[in-house]
Amino acid sequence: MKKLILTALSAVLVLGISACAGKSGESATKMDEQELNSKAAPIVTEEELGLRKENLYSEETKPVKAEFNRPAPGAAKTFERSYENAPPLIPHSVDGLLPITKKNNACLGCHMPDVAPSVKATPIPPTHFMDFRTQKKLDHLAQQRFNCSQCHVPQANVKPLVKNNFKPDYRRPEDKSRSFLIHDLNEGVK
Ligand code: HEC
Ligand code: HEC
Repeated sequence: MKKLILTALSAVLVLGISACAGKSGESATKMDEQELNSKAAPIVTEEELGLRKENLYSEETKPVKAEFNRPAPGAAKTFERSYENAPPLIPHSVDGLLPITKKNNACLGCHMPDVAPSVKATPIPPTHFMDFRTQKKLDHLAQQRFNCSQCHVPQANVKPLVKNNFKPDYRRPEDKSRSFLIHDLNEGVK
């Protein structure tokens, strides 16, 4: 008799709990729905997606008009580095300097460390005269550094499609205008 009452009681309890759970579950979905409806964002169709403001499925894209008319080397003002030890952006015009070919690399004429000071150009840093596989210094420019414009890029006057909110954190004030990668390279390693 006692056993029967207990079973009946526990059945009531279990039923009660599941009923409660059902109720609260229901109200939660209703709340989510209401919240979603109140914050309903305008619908963006698949065709409108993307930054170029043209049908995403159209391959007829118009290139962004970019003005590369920068001052000649020697007349430009260098840009602040994008972040500590970032490859500097090319501030001057590259008219007649690009593309770099096997036989013609005009950049070297002004940026090799032995000539750079006389033309007031930033000298190519020691990291470009190193073989990183063997960690050995070279007495010539590393082959991997020959194609300067692979890493250093000219700048055009265009409005960015997405605002850049990144703010670099420099450890030393001089990091804004020079790189010290050769000294920082093995930081925390050696
Ligand atoms: C006629 C000499 C000359 C030539 C050729 C030249 N540069 Fe320069 N470069 C300069 C000078 C001078 C500056 C400093 C800014 C200025 O006065 O225009 C400079 C600045 C730079 C900077 C910025 C350095 C910094 O500290 O922010 C980069 C990067 C650069 N040049 C890369 C190149 C590349 C890549 C080439 C080849 C495509 C090249 N330069 C060809 C003279 C030259
Ligand atoms: C593989 C990428 C790469 C290539 C190729 C390359 N650089 Fe760099 N360059 C960098 C990076 C990264 C830095 C900043 C860190 C450092 O100093 O190594 C830099 C730094 C520099 C600086 C600034 C030095 C300073 O003291 O602040 C100059 C000038 C420069 N490079 C010129 C050149 C020239 C000229 C060429 C072609 C002969 C060239 N680089 C090729 C990646 C490259």
